Amino acid sequence: MNIPSRVQLIDVGPRDGLQNEKQPVPAAIKIELVHRLQAAGLKEIEVTSYVSPKWVPQMADNHEVMAGLSRHSGVRYSVLTPNLKGFEAAVLDKPDEIVVFGAASEAFSQKNINCSIAESIERFAPVVEAARAAGIAVRGAMSCTVGCPYEGEIAPERVAYLAGLMKGIGVQRVDVADTIGVGTPRKVQAALEATLQHYGIDQVSGHFHDTYGQALSNTLAALELGIWNFQSSVSGLGGCPYAKGATGNVATEDVVYLLHGMGIETGIDLDALVDAGAYISEQLGRPSGSRVARALLAKRAG
Ligand code: HMG
Ligand code: MG
Repeated sequence: MNIPSRVQLIDVGPRDGLQNEKQPVPAAIKIELVHRLQAAGLKEIEVTSYVSPKWVPQMADNHEVMAGLSRHSGVRYSVLTPNLKGFEAAVLDKPDEIVVFGAASEAFSQKNINCSIAESIERFAPVVEAARAAGIAVRGAMSCTVGCPYEGEIAPERVAYLAGLMKGIGVQRVDVADTIGVGTPRKVQAALEATLQHYGIDQVSGHFHDTYGQALSNTLAALELGIWNFQSSVSGLGGCPYAKGATGNVATEDVVYLLHGMGIETGIDLDALVDAGAYISEQLGRPSGSRVARALLAKRAG
């Protein structure tokens, strides 16, 4: 086992989390959440997306949120851009990294971004080229690498195929996403290994939704392969509008507790992170989705 001694977490709560909220969340609250995450030591934050406001109204305030940030040097702020139109809007806000997002499943690609996998790569290619020419880093999210809400189980070969396409157009690193949280450790390892056929260990991250309660086990399984980059959402916020019933990402608080308990460094202050989660949960009017946060808050109250 090559368990890493340090892990880098990308908190995707402001984007993956809040994109799914039914009630509008004011930009000021999103900005405050990002500020609290960076104060807690997060070095990578996925802030927003530049997608159609008709498809995802919650992210329509992308410019306002990006413009309102007090950025810390040493923090990487990333945003989703599905096409050139999105990239051209995003570039005005100077993100450090853009994310193109594809799927290992044809049906999910159609539902999520309204095109086939092959067409999505054609749309991403000029985005990747423009970003790299502008000195902006490029990440690729790969959805449904274990299971798809429309097609069921997804074979690792399809993940390898998508990873190869991403690599071919110059995407620098990729996320292996279990969009609907159906994965179990061996299946997630197979999806990661398929991706590792095209990308090095430093360029592959795990993005696990926790719908079936497997995300921490899957995180441990990924750590066993030496994966040291993960995405998670503070408070376990979110879901995907195009994957009905899927809950949020694994909670950042839960991942940090796991990692620190294993002696793995994250640079994150768990108490400050719990405060950030308590802040957004209060704003949304519901308890935190993080078991660790609920336990620590109960302990504090006691
Ligand atoms: P489309 O309808 O195929 O695009 O949508 P189009 O090029 O035909 O344009 C149609 C309309 O959309 C036009 O406006 C365009 O201007 C506009 P109209 O003339 O009708 O007024 N448009 C845009 N507006 C703003 N920003 C843009 C943009 N592009 C076109 N970038 C599109 C294609 C991708 C835009 C659409 O399908 C869309 O916005 N989808 C939303 C996808 C999304 O945000 N999904 C959630 C994020 S992915 C996720 O959560 C998974 C992840 O977490 C990993 C995991 O867990 O799996 C990353
Ligand atoms: Mg996601």
